[in-house]
Amino acid sequence: MRSLSGLPLLAFLSVLSVANAHGWLLGHQKSSFPEPNYSGTFGDFASFVSHMKEIAKKRDVDLLLVDTGDLHDDAYLSSCIYEGTGLIDGYPAGGIDAHDANEFFKKLPYDVLAIGNHELYTYNNTLDMYKNFAPRFNGRYLSSNVNITVVNEHGQLQSVPVGSRFAKFKTRKGKQVTALGVLYNFTGNDKNTTVQKVADMVKEAWFADAIKAEPDFFLLTGLVLIYDSGLWNRHMPIARDNWPLVYNAIRAIHPLTPILILGGHTHIRNCLQMDGRSMSLESGRYMETIGWMSAKLDKKGSTKNITFSRRYLDPNRVTFEYHTQRNVHNFDTSSGQSIDSGLEKLSKKFDLSFQFGTAPHDFTISQSPYPSNNSLLSLFIENAVPVALAINNTRASIPNIMITNSGSQRFDVYAGPFTKNDQLTASPFADAFLYIADIPASIAKQVLPTLNKAGSNQRRELEEREREMYGRGHVDTVYMRWLEEMDKRNDGIDRRAAQNLTLGYVTADSCPGVGDDTPHAPLPFFSSPPFIGSQVPNVSDDTPIDLVFVDFIQAQLLQILNSVQTSKSYTTGDVKTYSPILANAALGLYAQKVWN
Ligand SMILES: *[C@@H]1O[C@H](CO)[C@@H](O)[C@H](O)[C@H]1NC(C)=O
Ligand SMILES: *[C@@H]1O[C@H](CO)[C@@H](O)[C@H](O)[C@H]1NC(C)=O
Ligand SMILES: *[C@@H]1O[C@H](CO)[C@@H](O)[C@H](O)[C@H]1NC(C)=O
Ligand SMILES: *[C@@H]1O[C@H](CO)[C@@H](O)[C@H](O)[C@H]1NC(C)=O
Ligand SMILES: *[C@@H]1O[C@H](CO)[C@@H](O)[C@H](O)[C@H]1NC(C)=O
Ligand SMILES: *[C@@H]1O[C@H](CO)[C@@H](O)[C@H](O)[C@H]1NC(C)=O
Ligand SMILES: *[C@@H]1O[C@H](CO)[C@@H](O)[C@H](O)[C@H]1NC(C)=O
Ligand SMILES: *[C@@H]1O[C@H](CO)[C@@H](O)[C@H](O)[C@H]1NC(C)=O
Ligand SMILES: *[C@@H]1O[C@H](CO)[C@@H](O)[C@H](O)[C@H]1NC(C)=O
Ligand SMILES: *[C@@H]1O[C@H](CO)[C@@H](O)[C@H](O)[C@H]1NC(C)=O
Repeated sequence: MRSLSGLPLLAFLSVLSVANAHGWLLGHQKSSFPEPNYSGTFGDFASFVSHMKEIAKKRDVDLLLVDTGDLHDDAYLSSCIYEGTGLIDGYPAGGIDAHDANEFFKKLPYDVLAIGNHELYTYNNTLDMYKNFAPRFNGRYLSSNVNITVVNEHGQLQSVPVGSRFAKFKTRKGKQVTALGVLYNFTGNDKNTTVQKVADMVKEAWFADAIKAEPDFFLLTGLVLIYDSGLWNRHMPIARDNWPLVYNAIRAIHPLTPILILGGHTHIRNCLQMDGRSMSLESGRYMETIGWMSAKLDKKGSTKNITFSRRYLDPNRVTFEYHTQRNVHNFDTSSGQSIDSGLEKLSKKFDLSFQFGTAPHDFTISQSPYPSNNSLLSLFIENAVPVALAINNTRASIPNIMITNSGSQRFDVYAGPFTKNDQLTASPFADAFLYIADIPASIAKQVLPTLNKAGSNQRRELEEREREMYGRGHVDTVYMRWLEEMDKRNDGIDRRAAQNLTLGYVTADSCPGVGDDTPHAPLPFFSSPPFIGSQVPNVSDDTPIDLVFVDFIQAQLLQILNSVQTSKSYTTGDVKTYSPILANAALGLYAQKVWN
């Protein structure tokens, strides 16, 4: 069931890349599909890289290893940006997000790494990258347009690049490379970090100098690619994607020099070619994809199209052994094994396998309709939150309606043990629950539907908000639309049932040929409203009830509440704290009570 064999991949110059790892370094560990297809650990990946490098050497070709950033995750702003596993987010109070997990990245032979927006939400994380991470890579950790402000040796504040602005190096085979690591026009960064607009960066003298001499090829990393096929791109203004600025600046003086672009951030599998002598690839998210790009570089001055290929590998032992022609007995390297045992130790230290209970079946965000028994959104707001917030709560006996935003759930909950790691992964936002007392049931009932109606009516406002959230690092809309398109393109359920394929990504990008290394049937996709709520209590219309909601949506909620009634103008003064229990604890408390 594979579209290609292992070794032909390694005919030319090749690049392996990982995007948006976000701490998924012990692999996806659940047995419900598609998770087993992404079960490779970072140690397995290290062994894979080491064997591939060996094969490349034997065939006398180059193989480069690139990371496009977003190693961190961070809850600092508690809105739309918190995603990752416990290996980065499970650190004890006073620690630094991802510091320990990043030590394992230092053990791999990266040729180039780029900074991601998730490295910039908290100054201390950026400082950690500057002081402890970048130095290991000898100038190959790139932050072309990202600075950090530090106190220099004279005691003065100074803005300096977090890593290097660019790197020039020779490959093992002697090819001259000019590499840049450019972050998109990101606006959610912490104080004392600076993201220069890409449009301004390409006007800098250092940039002109860096790209002036012609290398054998340019390697650009970190940028966002345009997702350019199918249903939804008409909704998606592309002006926010800044990478053509860099491409154009290079093309203006080097019209034919090969350009290899490894993008990041949108979490999808994607490939496109701006011309016949460049290729751009994005390698998914969460260690669910290893991206592969291969180029048959020709003589300088050639005007012919370059022969490129690209593949999206599912990271698991089967894939890794297949492409390295190894087996279960001779695949692991000692370095790979020591990385995994180190990660296991870290997981123990953070107590990530602490088990709250056992999930009876899968609960998913978009693979099941909302509301339904298999919907994580239903589980969360109809079951988990009401149970969790009733604990030690004197208001528990007063009827209520509880409302949150559907983006509050970040990752599916699968059947089996529900652990601290699963809780951090599925429901990471530390939002507080607030309430307004004594709202007549007839009024309270209208709030959720009106919120959702406002959400879909105010299309322009919504797009504006989306654009802003995108700038702040919220990529979920792109990923969700990608899943939706995949499901539609493949005729949904019927076609899926007819195939004997496991579930997974079915990529249709705009590069020639098939991209997915292992064919899959598409995951079912169901969209959900922007806001979700608990069951409406069965009480008479005039019964005063509690309207409970997360702090994140307070402004919108007040506006809607004042639009569905006129007898009182509600303000923040009417809002009180409902419970000390935060949103990110609800699933665990529920599992302890109900799944034990
Ligand atoms: C991944 O999916 C394929 C089918 O698409 C299956 O044959 C294979 O066993 C899966 N890999 C793992 C590691 O489960
Ligand atoms: C950042 O690190 C410094 C020094 O370790 C510490 O004092 C400070 O509290 C940290 N700030 C945050 C927001 O974690
Ligand atoms: C980044 O740091 C360099 C070196 O200190 C400085 O020259 C440059 O002005 C800074 N750029 C920004 C956008 O702050
Ligand atoms: C930036 O960092 C310096 C040194 O730690 C500090 O004095 C200054 O207040 C910070 N600036 C802001 C805007 O927080
Ligand atoms: C970059 O972001 C800023 C701030 O949100 C915005 O004003 C500007 O138009 C953006 N520029 C581009 C090229 O997207
Ligand atoms: C070269 O590649 C470009 C971009 O992919 C394509 O439009 C063009 O048709 C190709 N030319 C030839 C001769 O194959
Ligand atoms: C959903 O769960 C409820 C409660 O466990 C059960 O009564 C109902 O039959 C289930 N519905 C479906 C469609 O499985
Ligand atoms: C509820 O109160 C009990 C007794 O004070 C306490 O032990 C328990 O930790 C509280 N539960 C929660 C979730 O706060
Ligand atoms: C799927 O598997 C069944 C049973 O093994 C077989 O009869 C059927 O032909 C297979 N279908 C396809 C499309 O391969
Ligand atoms: C709602 O309450 C009324 C009056 O107590 C009762 O007759 C009715 O069966 C209840 N409906 C549901 C769906 O529980």
